[in-house]
Amino acid sequence: MEIAKIIRKTCQGFEPYIAGKPIETLKRELGLSSVVKLASNENPLGASKKALKAIKENLYKVFFYPDSNSYELKEALSKRYSLPTSNIFTGAGGDEIIELIAKLFFESEDEIVISKHTFIRYAMAAKLMGSKAIVVPMKDGFVYDLLGLVKACTKKTKAVFVTNPNNPTGTYSTKAELMEFLQKLPLNKFGVKPLVILDEAYFEYASLEKDYPDGLNFLKDNPNLIIFRTFSKIYGLAGLRVAYGFANKQIVDYIERTRPPFNVNLLAQVAAAAAITDKEQVIKSQEFVKEEKEYLYKELKKLKIEYIISATNFVLFNSLPLKGKELFMKLLKEGVIVRAMDEYELSYWVRVTVGLHKENELFIRKLKVLIRDSKK
Ligand SMILES: Cc1ncc(COP(=O)(O)O)c(C=O)c1O
Repeated sequence: MEIAKIIRKTCQGFEPYIAGKPIETLKRELGLSSVVKLASNENPLGASKKALKAIKENLYKVFFYPDSNSYELKEALSKRYSLPTSNIFTGAGGDEIIELIAKLFFESEDEIVISKHTFIRYAMAAKLMGSKAIVVPMKDGFVYDLLGLVKACTKKTKAVFVTNPNNPTGTYSTKAELMEFLQKLPLNKFGVKPLVILDEAYFEYASLEKDYPDGLNFLKDNPNLIIFRTFSKIYGLAGLRVAYGFANKQIVDYIERTRPPFNVNLLAQVAAAAAITDKEQVIKSQEFVKEEKEYLYKELKKLKIEYIISATNFVLFNSLPLKGKELFMKLLKEGVIVRAMDEYELSYWVRVTVGLHKENELFIRKLKVLIRDSKK
């Protein structure tokens, strides 16, 4: 049977998502005994201690279905952000939230405006729904061109994705830039401004920057705004798949009606509800990443490698004279997993996640040798 014949047209050209290689897979494939993973922007300090305690206490309950409304988690988020629960929704990771929004809003005649060099899942979500992704170049320095996104909007524009700070460049848009962008968005054929889907997956890391905007401050005046954040990054819960979003009540209501009923699992809910109260986890991780980024910048500079200053827990650097993919493969053989950036149209760039100090040292040591050898 020719299965391709019956696959939905929009799903036919799909390439598999290239995830960061798991440590155990690489050990198996290359027979290595020691491997460090600096590929998926996880928190090397580990999960929030409060979350781990909550998981242990609730482990025996896994024979129950989870609370389909994430009641306790929403209450915890409501308390943390001083926002009614009717403005809050949850999902199985930011990845699912992107898809929930796409399934709810995107139609085949819609245009979805996206920046170049940004998180790949937005274009995939548009494609899944058969919508047209309009891609806008970045400004110099790999910074979002928010006014360029405004200019790209037409009557057909249903939504605009903004990642702040951006993955994989680590750059961010300022408060003033975001405010101007939201104001200047034109009305579409529905007589409303396009939805703005503001992805703040690295919010806590970027919060250290003085002019970094907290998207929540714009929610009241912008009913077209949907913001989401994740527990995968600073809270160290990537393996549990849990994230949350803020939007006006009507949008939340529709998301609630259309999402799978048990999308956030029982352990994820209790862990996330505990993690959101864990200030120590946030402060400790912010300080740690700040310090280790300085170390990486200093060492990359010594190696005369160009890099982009980052407001996140990863750094994008230039791999010349090697292609990013080549450098990625060479580092892989040395037991260091980073991320090549071909699917982001950055074929001479590599992204490295801030690891533990000894992991960062190992990465620099291996990089030094590889770069030296490649110039011979
Ligand atoms: C910008 C951005 N958005 C969303 C996500 C999805 O995160 P998760 O699905 O783990 O919440 C990621 C993960 O790397 C990301 O970098």
